[in-house]
Amino acid sequence: MTQSAFRAKLLTFTGDPAQSPDAAVFHEDGVVIVEDGRVAASGAWSALKDRVSDGASVQDLRDKLIVPGFIDTHIHYPQTDMIASPAPGLLPWLETYTFPTERGFADEAVAADTARFFVDELLASGTTTALVYCTVHKQSADALFTASEAKNLRMVAGKVLMDRHCPDFLRDTPQTGYDDSAELIARWHNNGRQMYALTPRFAPTSTEAQLEACEALAKAHGDIFIQSHVAENLDEVAWVKSLFPRQRSYLDVYDHYSLLRRRAVYGHCIWLDDEDRRRMAETGAVAAHCPTSNLFLGSGLFDFAKAQETQMPVTLATDVGGGTSFSMLQTMNEAHKVARMGGHHLTATRMFWLATAGAAQALDLADKIGTLAPQSEADFVVLDPKATPLLARRTARADSLEELLFAFALLGDDRAVYETYAAGARVHSREQARR
Ligand code: GUN
Ligand code: ZN
Repeated sequence: MTQSAFRAKLLTFTGDPAQSPDAAVFHEDGVVIVEDGRVAASGAWSALKDRVSDGASVQDLRDKLIVPGFIDTHIHYPQTDMIASPAPGLLPWLETYTFPTERGFADEAVAADTARFFVDELLASGTTTALVYCTVHKQSADALFTASEAKNLRMVAGKVLMDRHCPDFLRDTPQTGYDDSAELIARWHNNGRQMYALTPRFAPTSTEAQLEACEALAKAHGDIFIQSHVAENLDEVAWVKSLFPRQRSYLDVYDHYSLLRRRAVYGHCIWLDDEDRRRMAETGAVAAHCPTSNLFLGSGLFDFAKAQETQMPVTLATDVGGGTSFSMLQTMNEAHKVARMGGHHLTATRMFWLATAGAAQALDLADKIGTLAPQSEADFVVLDPKATPLLARRTARADSLEELLFAFALLGDDRAVYETYAAGARVHSREQARR
């Protein structure tokens, strides 16, 4: 048994800090003890120092803060190189930039190179798990899983399904989409730390036959993830209404094909009504709120107050390349402002929960990731309160945990990520990356 120990300030969670003030657990002088890729123990150094074995390596990170690895619940790896492409809104952005860029992923070398860069960029931002859209090409999913497996990350991804309203070069069919997805599920789902997500892009780009194929695959594999987009943009909502006139709402299209359930994650959820939100809550389907994307594409403002009222599960996501940053800290920054526009105060403590333990709970992964609890897979981030001169000055004055976390959320980005660990192994070091 190999043991390693990390002595630092610690933050972990036992529940939602919005429900219980004790749910955020902080140790000023704490330690995480890792054995065989899992957390063996975490807590106060004074209580646990005797559990550190003689031969263990002990890293002294007392001026840093360890938090569970960030979980980004909606991101497109093929859009890495087209991040920050200007367009007047979602649909023209898809036509002008997204589809032509995704065409390149027919080439395995492009997919492999982009996947490796993407995974490194996630880790540099402290993100250890993401729900990733690939392209329609099945080799794009193989490339992403291969890059993730090489770093032993817990990753969820899927090949996009799209059989209409897209260029020919990105179109599959109900049958090829079904066959390719089934093959990828067999190859990658629960293969090591990799997990599969059935990925119909969004209702306008799938025929009824393709959505039926999704329903069949989802039924055959009760524990796979499902991911799609819903109610992101008003033009898109109107388009769905014209394509599926019999359905009560956009969300109802997915419901009709039994695609609302646990482990089903829907990006955006801006233009839902309360009946939709309640249906999400009832089925256990999860909203991925993507604030940097929603502001960038002018899609709209996610309604935190209504999500809370209807108990719709919410997580945070970047949505790169519609999103403008890989950083979950920057995502929190924008989430706070979007919530503020709706008159809702989103605390930093809750945002850190949403980006870690809350996401793990919503995704049915709480026994594996999201906290520093014993037996968790040892995925964590070492944050540096002195990462920049400004952050150093602000955090020096922070007189509560909330103020410290708020400074990280509002001022932090990849510069604040000192190191990232996955299954107990260091997978990113800021110092080494700068060399
Ligand atoms: N809706 C359908 N496809 C996409 C996409 O790639 N990005 C975003 N933000 N919305 C979408
Ligand atoms: Zn998206």
